[in-house]
Amino acid sequence: MNWVIKVHIVFIGIVGLAAIYSVWRAAYHTNRLVNKENNMTTTAKKSRELADTTVGAIVARQPATARVFEKYRIDYCCQGQKTLRAACEEKGLDVVSLTNELAVSHQRADDSPRWEERPLSELCDHIERRHHDYLREELPRLAELIDKVIRAHGQTQPDLLLLRNHFRALRDELEPHMLKEEHVLFPAIRQLEASRTPHRFPFGSVSNPIRCMIDEHEHAGEELRHLHELTNGFQPPPGACPTWRVMLESLARLERDMHEHVHKENSILFPRAVALEGEIRASDPGHAGRVVK
Ligand SMILES: [Fe+2]
Ligand SMILES: [Fe+2]
Repeated sequence: MNWVIKVHIVFIGIVGLAAIYSVWRAAYHTNRLVNKENNMTTTAKKSRELADTTVGAIVARQPATARVFEKYRIDYCCQGQKTLRAACEEKGLDVVSLTNELAVSHQRADDSPRWEERPLSELCDHIERRHHDYLREELPRLAELIDKVIRAHGQTQPDLLLLRNHFRALRDELEPHMLKEEHVLFPAIRQLEASRTPHRFPFGSVSNPIRCMIDEHEHAGEELRHLHELTNGFQPPPGACPTWRVMLESLARLERDMHEHVHKENSILFPRAVALEGEIRASDPGHAGRVVK
């Protein structure tokens, strides 16, 4: 074979390889574009679904998102039945940016139990230990702190007297409220879950005390809003003494804890208890079709 033929063979080989590479490259890029478009469509769909989900349900599924709602002062406890879209419209926020922020917060490590999946009795125990015990310790401590600040600054700061009135109203609402939950509602929920049989409670359906508890949460929420506004979001004024600062920090913590507490009850425990009672009654031939009030 002379050199001219050899050169032709090498040339044809190179052209062939180049053609194969071009075809592979075009296919690779097309595939990437299709995947990218699919991902964008899925992300946009997820974003739309999230915007139409209630804020209470978002926090119930992904507890870490509560921080984002706190940051924008979106009430996910007493107003947890609002959709994310409605909450954003109310606050003048861009729903797309907020869904992105929620997605990032959810990706961060979160070891909170998924209360939507845990037994109801475990959730009742948790609420009593984590939130009721905290309030029993914190409410008297805060009452003393507020009195102390008023003794020192009450004469020149009339808002402190208003603050004490709202705090007292909050305490008067919460202390008997916790007793009703611990002695009436939570035992009924535990009983329903343990026996899985219909019960004749003195108050009828569990929905009745639950409605009452939700109303009381609303009242407590109003008092907390007054405390927030009176203190400009728990910001210490210039020259505030250390006790005043501690009082404001403690009130801010109380507000955060109350949001978490009411969210667990309004958006997780109560709807699950009502659903459980409905299932039990539906599966019982003696109760099926009968409306219990
Ligand atoms: Fe509670
Ligand atoms: Fe409650």
